[in-house]
Amino acid sequence: MFYLHGTSRINDLGHLEIGGCDTTELVSQYGSPLFVYDETYIRQIIRSYRNGFDNSGLQYEVAYASKAFCTQAICRLVEEEGGSLDVVSMGELYTALSASFPAERIHFHGNNKTPEELEYALDAGIGAFVIDNFHEMQLLGALCRQRGIFAKVLLRVTPGVDAHTHDYISTGQQDSKFGFDVSNETAHRAIEQALQTEGIQLIGLHSHIGSSIFITEGFALAIERVSRLYEWAVNSAGANLSVLNVGGGFGIRYQEGDTPLAPEQYIEAIASAVKHSFDQHGLPLPKVVIEPGRSIVGAAGTTLYTIGSKKVIPGVRTYLAVDGGMTDNPRPALYQAKYEAAVASRMLEEPVETVSIAGKCCESGDMLIWDVAIPHAEAGDILAVSCTGAYNYSMASNYNRIGRPAVVFVSGGEAEEVVRRESLDDLVRLDRIPARMQTPSLQK
Ligand code: LLP
Repeated sequence: MFYLHGTSRINDLGHLEIGGCDTTELVSQYGSPLFVYDETYIRQIIRSYRNGFDNSGLQYEVAYASKAFCTQAICRLVEEEGGSLDVVSMGELYTALSASFPAERIHFHGNNKTPEELEYALDAGIGAFVIDNFHEMQLLGALCRQRGIFAKVLLRVTPGVDAHTHDYISTGQQDSKFGFDVSNETAHRAIEQALQTEGIQLIGLHSHIGSSIFITEGFALAIERVSRLYEWAVNSAGANLSVLNVGGGFGIRYQEGDTPLAPEQYIEAIASAVKHSFDQHGLPLPKVVIEPGRSIVGAAGTTLYTIGSKKVIPGVRTYLAVDGGMTDNPRPALYQAKYEAAVASRMLEEPVETVSIAGKCCESGDMLIWDVAIPHAEAGDILAVSCTGAYNYSMASNYNRIGRPAVVFVSGGEAEEVVRRESLDDLVRLDRIPARMQTPSLQK
């Protein structure tokens, strides 16, 4: 069953409409494949997180994890909604700064930030670095001393909570490339070292327990463990901490059976776990930071494709191919991710066949959806795949030299192109032909 997220609805023509725009018209205007983002819905979700915190009375920051979808327009939108930003590379940081995102509301993640990236971020004056390892701590300290400045830092710790399963186990997350382990006291050593490192100012702790989380117990357990460490840092190591960053990972409804909580519900659970743990330790309440990526943009994004060829293998399967695939959505191939689809121009027609949606790349693994029931569809019809807003455009590639799609934001019946489609010229933009290979026609 195709679920209508946000402002999506079926219009009088029986077409899928998003943000007041007929999706078939969007394809006529902007071409296909096309990423369509429901701007109103994104704003609503950010506001829901903020409402949740406003109700809790806690100080907070909602930092959008820009890795989910990083463009100048989304940075502007987040800024307008009072959000902060989590970046993980110089490219994401550059995107944010080039969109005039205030540097002091940006924090920088990553398990191997390069010296060049750290210098760039220091020069920009970002709000905080989330230090992941001892190497980075030394590097950042040295760069700050050279500049005669102090950088605000959080330490990323691994609390040993595996949030991917309902029956989470306490050691699962320990085998991770990220962060300082709490269980074997590496995190304690990191705190001591941070306090001794001239040039950095330790202001808080960070943990991120995973992605696509539908229950709150993992957050509560992580908060409990990290607050114990926080208490040790303050009372035994003498740290002056004020920030607790609990990461992102809130789930969304990709398909029937997915049962995410509302943003307010996640925040209510987090706020009560923070209050409970900090009260128990007799600590003043910290500022709480969350870093949602998927839940802010995931369900707000829809990909529109044009249906092309069809291969019927009697008694076996019908393949329906679209004009995109793993180049704009690598998630089914990478994570066996499941999606729902509908024929955008036939939303009121009954399903008559079960088909599998194939991409156009030259490999059998390029399948977007296995077995989806749809109405009779022909070449030229528009197929809408929902919930493609997070980690799709941001992980898109030029495999097979296929250009990345355009992206539009829709709202109140208006569409705005926020990323233009890659052209053929874009695809060869970085190529160089060695002089000795130049063909006569290319030689001057
Ligand atoms: N904070 C940190 C430190 C993270 O590592 C991540 C995601 C987030 C926040 C945001 O998590 P979210 O709210 O989006 O779940 N490419 C994968 C997802 C990788 C997530 C990496 N870290 C996918 O397509 O599912």
